[in-house]
Amino acid sequence: MPANTPVGGTLINRVANNPAKLRAEAERLPAITLPAAEVWDLKLLAIGGYSPLNGFVNEHDYASIIARGALTDGTPWTVPITLGVPGAGKLAAGSRAALKDEQGNLLGAITIQQLYPRRFEDEAKGVFKTLDEAHPGVARIRAAGQTLVAGEVDVLPDTLPAAEQGLIYKPAEVRAEIDKRGWKSVVAFQTRNPIHRAHEYLLRTALETADGLLIHPLVGETKSDDIPADVRTACYRTLIDKYFPKERVILAALPAPMRYAGPKEAIHHALVRRNYGATHFIVGRDHAGVGNYYGTYDAQQIFETYAPGALGIVNLNFEHSFWCNGVGGYATSKTSPFGKEQQLTISGTKLRELLAKGEYPPAEIVRPELAEILMAYYKTL
Ligand code: ADX
Repeated sequence: MPANTPVGGTLINRVANNPAKLRAEAERLPAITLPAAEVWDLKLLAIGGYSPLNGFVNEHDYASIIARGALTDGTPWTVPITLGVPGAGKLAAGSRAALKDEQGNLLGAITIQQLYPRRFEDEAKGVFKTLDEAHPGVARIRAAGQTLVAGEVDVLPDTLPAAEQGLIYKPAEVRAEIDKRGWKSVVAFQTRNPIHRAHEYLLRTALETADGLLIHPLVGETKSDDIPADVRTACYRTLIDKYFPKERVILAALPAPMRYAGPKEAIHHALVRRNYGATHFIVGRDHAGVGNYYGTYDAQQIFETYAPGALGIVNLNFEHSFWCNGVGGYATSKTSPFGKEQQLTISGTKLRELLAKGEYPPAEIVRPELAEILMAYYKTL
């Protein structure tokens, strides 16, 4: 059986097939400058990671996504992919505009379907469940343009490097790899952190039943205190090389920005992984959370609000997992009879402190091979 079907049934491809013509045309067009996070979104639109979207969403879909977690045609979708500009300026519906990054590089073009106002409060409450501008996702949509430009995009092939962090990253490539390996079930794992032993427990448990595992770190824009993608990638490679059966694992990059939207982003992450061919998706504790904005299992509960089968990808839920001295291994409250006093836990802050001092955290929490990579990184700060 081949890789799972994309959302909407067809993998979108918005890579320009006549780049020279697009470049010539762009010289005459007004230009829109995309902040770094929107550049990542543009790349994903181009390669079909956001199928069925073929561009930045229009006002109807925007409102529908925010209010009911679906596009106007009923297709599940929880995060509006928007392009904000400070004001309409020379942009007008029915015309085209060039898309550039902040360094002035031409990325592609958009056929403007519509210009409409961002509804900041609705979007913040609907997607992030808070208006608090201390939330990194809310802060980003506050700082972004408040006039939204909707329309199909055409993206120059040069905008899409051969690899991200040395990894394959296009849905078509990952789908081909799944087909080649003949996997019927593929479980995808989203992460924006180095893989600690608690993550590993989830991965191994999932691999007991799935044919294959897609380790799919997000490598786009993240918070400044998250570990950079290149350091994390070094960790993933080291871990897989030594501790995983390589023929059962695909390591690929997800070139997307992190939104920290908790439950809404969990659905989004699952749908995007379906576009990469996955049939199952791991959702642990506080998936895509930040601070205390979401309940520990909100990101699991939201999957129950969709009709069975509607998402076309199955969530594999995991309780908070921890090293349990009583059990002598990893466990959760579902699998261990022991109390909290048997749990070995360490806060993120404490972990960073240890690594920055060049001290190894307990091997039950971070493997020494990975601790070394992280220590070397903290030394450079
Ligand atoms: S996230 O922002 O991408 O969700 P992270 O990389 O830490 O952050 O988590 C990746 C996945 O592992 C998420 O599904 C998260 O819920 C899950 N997870 C992380 N730590 C644990 C843990 N100790 N127990 C259970 N699930 C976890």
